[in-house]
Amino acid sequence: MEPAAIIDRFMGHLEAAFAEGAFIKLTLSKPTGEAGELKNLYARPALIGGKLLLSFTFRYTTRDETKNFEWPEASALIRQQLGSIFLNADCIGAREEVSLQFSRKRIPRLHARPAKNAPPLLLEHDSPKKRLLETKGNAWLYAMGITNAQGEVLAAGQRKFRQIDKYIEIVDSLIRQQPLPPQPRIVDMGAGKGYLTFALYDHLKNNLGLDPHITGLEIRPHLVEFANALAAEAGFAGLHFEAQDLREYRGGALDMLIALHACDTLTDYAIAEGLRAGADIILVAPCCHKQIRKQLNPAGVLKDMLKHGILQERQAELLTDSIRALLLEAVGYQTKVFEFVSIEHTNKNLMISGIRAQPNPESREKAAALKQAFGIEYHHLEKLLEDL
Ligand SMILES: C[S@@+](CC[C@H](N)C(=O)[O-])C[C@H]1O[C@@H](n2cnc3c(N)ncnc32)[C@H](O)[C@@H]1O
Repeated sequence: MEPAAIIDRFMGHLEAAFAEGAFIKLTLSKPTGEAGELKNLYARPALIGGKLLLSFTFRYTTRDETKNFEWPEASALIRQQLGSIFLNADCIGAREEVSLQFSRKRIPRLHARPAKNAPPLLLEHDSPKKRLLETKGNAWLYAMGITNAQGEVLAAGQRKFRQIDKYIEIVDSLIRQQPLPPQPRIVDMGAGKGYLTFALYDHLKNNLGLDPHITGLEIRPHLVEFANALAAEAGFAGLHFEAQDLREYRGGALDMLIALHACDTLTDYAIAEGLRAGADIILVAPCCHKQIRKQLNPAGVLKDMLKHGILQERQAELLTDSIRALLLEAVGYQTKVFEFVSIEHTNKNLMISGIRAQPNPESREKAAALKQAFGIEYHHLEKLLEDL
């Protein structure tokens, strides 16, 4: 078959998936010499102003650009890239997955296969906001006292439910940027009673159709016992809790590492384990930033800024988490720092996410400069990185 006819076929699959609402994601990869700074192109369906469009993310070396197009322009844009700017195109649909691969001589080959564990189509942008977890008949939400037997969220469970909902929204957005494999391996460190661990499992399994293997680590055995019994009752076969000190945990390869409200340097131990285990996604909500605070000893005008205890505390938080984000960037993660919803554990409501990217050695220098400015001798994560 002529190359143009093979490209037509690929575009035909894409158009059919889009027309029937089964299109999930298109990834263009393997940039050619003509791509310049452009590294990848992603397209997803997006409902904007009641119209189904394609939302494109142009990923350049140092930035992302997003543009939305109706099908005719979108299709022309994609076609232009195939074989000229990108050598691989992968279209994921609810029913089938189709790949187009060009050889060095730019000869295209098409592969189509039935979709495995394809997540349901979720539209972004202005699609109506709905709760991500089903509350009706949900055994774990009921057992944790968040809903009543009819699946209605109790007044006392509202704050916790809002936190769970926000958390799932955050995770969902992260795994759109860095998709998980069909059987993702995940560890959640310092899981506590397991609210957020259960919520994650429920979402991945029941909303996205994945087959997750999630381990929740928690040092208090009675919480582990409770959570394991509840996982069995809820029929969550891939969810297990272990009573273990997370500082000593060394597991197998991971797709995602999570640590929510793990106190002080426990967040650093968790990040280090995520790096060691090769996690593509790292998500932490740090709390109790003590390690840096003890060392703060800036010179000159900064000294005056830290005269008061509360300002020292806030500065220690800012520095600890800024340096965490920089160190993650240095070793090859694209990071974001944003607000989470705080709850009874802590008034700290920051989250740091990292998804796999190119290492950025300059970020390590920036971390060193920050440490120097504030007279900080060491950051715990840095020490742990030395031993990886
Ligand atoms: C503040 S709770 C957070 C619970 C849950 N991640 C959340 O955000 O809702 C922190 C949990 O970490 C546990 N923990 C403390 N030290 C630990 C350690 N060294 N190893 C494992 N878990 C630990 C505590 O028992 C506690 O349940």
